[in-house]
Amino acid sequence: MYHRPNSPAWLKQAVFYQIYPQSFRDANGDGIGDIPGIIQKLDYLQWLGINAVWINPCFVSPFRDAGYDVDDYYRIAPRYGTNRDLYRLCREAHRRGIKVCLDLVAGHTSIDHPWFKASCRSNRNKYSDRYIWTSSALSDPNSPLSLIRGYSERDGNYVANCFYFQPALNYGFAKPVQTWQQSVDAPGPLETRKELIKIINFWLGHGVDGFRVDMAFSLVKLDPGRKETIRLWQDIGQKVRARYPDMVLISEWGNPGESITAGFDIDFVLHFGAGGYPDLILNKNCFFRRSDGANIGDFLKSYLEQAAKTNGKGQITVPSSNHDIKRPCADGRTLNDLKVIFTFLLTWPGVPFIYYGDEIGMRYIPGLASKEGSYDRTGSRTPMQWSDRLNAGFSTADEKQLYLPLDPRRNRPTVQKQASDSGSLLNHVRELIALRKHSPALQAEGALIPLQVETNNRHFSYLRQSGDERFLIVLNPSAEPCQVRIQGINPGDIAFQICHGAQASIKGGDIQVKLAGVSYGVFKL
Ligand code: NOJ
Ligand code: CA
Repeated sequence: MYHRPNSPAWLKQAVFYQIYPQSFRDANGDGIGDIPGIIQKLDYLQWLGINAVWINPCFVSPFRDAGYDVDDYYRIAPRYGTNRDLYRLCREAHRRGIKVCLDLVAGHTSIDHPWFKASCRSNRNKYSDRYIWTSSALSDPNSPLSLIRGYSERDGNYVANCFYFQPALNYGFAKPVQTWQQSVDAPGPLETRKELIKIINFWLGHGVDGFRVDMAFSLVKLDPGRKETIRLWQDIGQKVRARYPDMVLISEWGNPGESITAGFDIDFVLHFGAGGYPDLILNKNCFFRRSDGANIGDFLKSYLEQAAKTNGKGQITVPSSNHDIKRPCADGRTLNDLKVIFTFLLTWPGVPFIYYGDEIGMRYIPGLASKEGSYDRTGSRTPMQWSDRLNAGFSTADEKQLYLPLDPRRNRPTVQKQASDSGSLLNHVRELIALRKHSPALQAEGALIPLQVETNNRHFSYLRQSGDERFLIVLNPSAEPCQVRIQGINPGDIAFQICHGAQASIKGGDIQVKLAGVSYGVFKL
């Protein structure tokens, strides 16, 4: 019988920051961000109030998919530095109260990985079953999986997870039907699992605090209800936690009901069906739009359903964005619109994740050429804008050598400009983080009580509560002013916290809030 472990206590107060290493800070002037560069910016992260980072893949790789195609899981890519740099990053981060999580590409390797090269050979060897192969290259097994044909000397097709150069590691099939499909407890899949545990233990042993797991949902193939994938992760988690009880596992799964049961501590609300992240922040008619926006209802319904399934066992997170999707600063949004979004993100339950640059409103830059398999994700991966110095303080390299071009606008936002402007988005984010850190009601596990969600509302209010501490949050992302009346919550008093365009007063035991267009208020009751 599986008992889900309690998540580490530090997650209750955690505020994560996602670092895309190639675009964050280049310390050696070759145009590509690196680990020493991240170390240089730890003071900034500490100033902002960040206490955990997730770094996108930084292992040896041919970088056909920006590092999501690993050649060696035990070695840092030379362009980012050395293993020693990473160990130093962990020590320096810990000195500042910041945890370090890496990105574990558990489902596939690169086609250049020595395991895959061996697996491609026709002679039977140690790695023949490390990947999923059909039994003949010429027959068409009519599989729902993506099969790559004609690549190898070995007679067979391999299963690719995403791009053709990402061959799926073999964790087995939930119910093998064809002869080439192995069960989860066949020797090949068990060896793959053992190796994955070894990789996890290796980095934890060197001071890393946890992992974001790429495509965590996908490991066992043809797995209805993900039952076997859940069992696989339960087993991995149990084995690793026996030695490292405080490590965290964050899943790219998008279904907290499943992933939290699988033993993950955090899952992202990044599913793209009705009521997912797109209905909140991404779509043209999502909730956070000045005009033609939707009611919060669809998002809220889906969020509350998922929260009920996880039953307080793990955290659901709504990220500001990430390296795979458009930044929130796109499609005409202004810094004020972003302030409303961040007020939501940093007063919402679960664990906030801020994608580098979103805290200053870096733009999604349209029209850039694809880089390392980025396609339309390129615009969200441009260099961090630190200052008005050369290359926005990202790198001292020649501009043409930069990993990606910078936002070309003269008035592009920078950390330097915004740090010294008390009304900036950056200082708003910083203030919200500080408030959250001192207020258990606003943290991961404070209760959420949604208010005012009638169908036609373009505003949204909710309470967050823990013990005697209670906050009211009101948001109006639309351009239209409105009034909100909140009944029956008996406020003693209202203390202003962080507001813009929102005025609250008590009338006959009710709270009345006047909201200007594009406004927010965080009140302590
Ligand atoms: C999800 C990652 O976030 C994405 O960037 C990558 O391309 C795919 N998984 C494949 O690993
Ligand atoms: Ca560099």
